[in-house]
Amino acid sequence: MIKVIETIDVMRAYIKEARFAGKKIGLVPTMGALHEGHLTLMREAKAVCDVVVASIFVNPTQFGPNEDFAAYPRKFENDCRLAQGVGVDAIFHPQPSEMYPPGYSTYVNVSGITDKLCGQSRPGHFQGVATVVTKLFNIVQPDTAFFGQKDAQQCLVIQRMTADLNMDIQIVMVPTVRDANGLALSSRNAYLSPEEIQAALVLAQSMRLADHAVKAGERNIAAIRDMVRNKIQSEPKAEIDYVEIYQYPDLQATDVLANKALLALAVRFGKTRLIDNIILSV
Ligand code: PAJ
Repeated sequence: MIKVIETIDVMRAYIKEARFAGKKIGLVPTMGALHEGHLTLMREAKAVCDVVVASIFVNPTQFGPNEDFAAYPRKFENDCRLAQGVGVDAIFHPQPSEMYPPGYSTYVNVSGITDKLCGQSRPGHFQGVATVVTKLFNIVQPDTAFFGQKDAQQCLVIQRMTADLNMDIQIVMVPTVRDANGLALSSRNAYLSPEEIQAALVLAQSMRLADHAVKAGERNIAAIRDMVRNKIQSEPKAEIDYVEIYQYPDLQATDVLANKALLALAVRFGKTRLIDNIILSV
């Protein structure tokens, strides 16, 4: 049976025992409403670690005041079944008051790469992410932690943070899992109407256009970005938040594609904001 742990003390005791037994520990941080993307991270973790902990915590500090914290899907029972099915050993499921008790005052800020893309659209978001991930790292003390390319900027922020703060944790980035039509799996897809799901396919289509253009020799960043924007704007239900291309992995601005670049986009369909990305490579 999968173990469900709700307090930091019990989590620490569980990890202490696993460490004493010489086990390699993997952590997969999530906010729940698990789908095949999350499960792929967990399978990957199970393949290379002895003990896998998945955290399920809808982290209030990474949501803005007008965002969907209250509405975010919570499906804990089903999540436990799914995680058990892929071999997760323990689920860490704290209450917000366990993670942020009264008087809580400490936040982790990663500068530079957080000033663009989702960092610009969602002020404070990455501070919330870096803070909660630091706390999870300190509680679980994993050897390896697994993040999805779906949130590529988040993964880069965590890599920067672990390097800068000398956290002895290996960060693995797992490729984005998509449905048969190319739509990236996301817990927020549950908000979409059938018509919006259909409309959202324009995201994968627009990224495919960019990929083909690069393969055909296009190197002009502005031209690629305009091509993607035009394709997305051809879908009446799509409202662009950002479509940007930056050098990968340092996210520096560039005019000409050389080596690798991250094509990242955030687009609203009705009330739902979706993000997606691909790495373009020469
Ligand atoms: P959440 O959105 O639940 O995602 C948890 C992890 O699953 C993240 O690393 C995310 O990149 C990955 N993921 C989501 N959809 C994916 C897909 N289609 N393919 C591959 N991986 C996918 O990201 C968060 O939660 C939070 O910010 C968190 C890191 C847990 C901190 O609160």
